[in-house]
Amino acid sequence: MSIIMAAGAGTRMKSKLPKVLHKVCGQTLVDHVVDVAEEIGCKHIVTIVGHGREAVQEQLKPRGTGFAVQAEQLGTGHAVQMAADQINDDENVLILSGDTPLLEPGSLKGLVDLMLEKDFAGALLTTHVEDPTGYGRILRDENNEVLGIVEHKDASEEQRLINEINPAVYCFKGSILKKALGDLSNDNVQGEYYLTDVIGLIRGYGHSIGGYAVEDASQMLGVNSRVQLHEAERIMQDRILNKHMVEGVTIINANNTYIEKKVKIGQDTIVYPGSFLTGTTEIGEDCLIGPDARIENTSIADRVEVRSSTLLESSVDSDTNIGPYAYLRPKSQIGKHVKVGDFVEVKNSTIGDNSKVSHLAYIGDGDIGQNVNIGCGVVFVNYDGKNKNRTTVKDGAFVGCNANLVAPVTVEEGAYVAAGSTITENVEEKSLAVARARQVNKPGWVKQKNLLK
Ligand code: UD1
Ligand code: CA
Repeated sequence: MSIIMAAGAGTRMKSKLPKVLHKVCGQTLVDHVVDVAEEIGCKHIVTIVGHGREAVQEQLKPRGTGFAVQAEQLGTGHAVQMAADQINDDENVLILSGDTPLLEPGSLKGLVDLMLEKDFAGALLTTHVEDPTGYGRILRDENNEVLGIVEHKDASEEQRLINEINPAVYCFKGSILKKALGDLSNDNVQGEYYLTDVIGLIRGYGHSIGGYAVEDASQMLGVNSRVQLHEAERIMQDRILNKHMVEGVTIINANNTYIEKKVKIGQDTIVYPGSFLTGTTEIGEDCLIGPDARIENTSIADRVEVRSSTLLESSVDSDTNIGPYAYLRPKSQIGKHVKVGDFVEVKNSTIGDNSKVSHLAYIGDGDIGQNVNIGCGVVFVNYDGKNKNRTTVKDGAFVGCNANLVAPVTVEEGAYVAAGSTITENVEEKSLAVARARQVNKPGWVKQKNLLK
């Protein structure tokens, strides 16, 4: 099982939001911690909530974790005590903090493996840092086992020189942890119940505690301020971009490309600067993305180009070109070999294979078939002031420039709509609809009106 401490206020964030709900790479701090617990196979997760607990519980609801409430924050030991009745005697309990989003599953696995191999009653991660100020220091014995942890505020001058610190990631045998939690006191400089004191207590019962040193201290970064939030963002962004590059994606400039954690990208896709790829976006192979593409929760197949455009909650099939300056609003489904060109807005619409909407058009609530040509300036007039209505343009149809299709309306297969028409009635198969006044030329009109300059 895993217990995640997330009850603290996070005062230094200077925020209305509870600290663990601040986001790094598009996901809350506490969600990253739940991710890592799940990634090493933890099924039973209990989050300790206190400050802003309704919001934290609401956020974690879809993940199905359990909760324990710590109404008053009397220290990390007190926090874990709140979950004591949910700990089974015979299980190992992993304890994490909700504000350490960079922890990697490999480190947790190393910790648990060390504990099981050596049959320790508990084990904790440690790391060496240049400046250990503020952290609990690790005290080891001659066998290199962990004797205890002394908090910075309680440490002697000599102990403060120790640069092996406690990143606050622990694993304990359930029964022994429960006993130690019962024996904690708050007799220290801060008057808090320190979780770190369980180490000394467990040693006192005659058991051993292991320390698993991790070289990469950046994993242990705890977010306490917006400055550290930014640092975490930078480190995680680096990791995400590196992972994609290792897997065969070209990123032209990692300094101004932003890719969230869950995004997937296929081999030989090139991502140009200024691209923001977020949410559950999936991009296929051999695509050209950007510059300046914002793509959110959208799936894109192979060999697609997306230039300087915004795509939200949509899908784009293979060999299609989007942009520059196109805007796909939610629920747009674009087929294969399609062109959606400059200043085209598409919303809640489908566009079939081999169709083209090359410039300056609004496709709202429309269903466009295959091999359709939508001319420059075409508007799908989908809103009558009260209701949204759909427009259908069937296979092979041709809609001339600057036409208005007033929904609900259908242009049947192979039909033509003349440029400048305002179409309010269905257009039959393979026919031509002209819906505009006939041109009248008046010779000599200017002279007659005496308008000559
Ligand atoms: C703790 C450790 C310290 C370690 C450091 C690493 C203790 C006594 N000390 O110190 O050895 O080096 O973390 O960052 O544990 N929390 C609660 N309820 C509480 C208090 C805290 O849920 O009553 C949560 C906080 O929300 C946070 C986590 O526990 O997620 C850590 O608390 P924090 O006050 O930041 O611990 P430190 O004093 O930094
Ligand atoms: Ca504290």
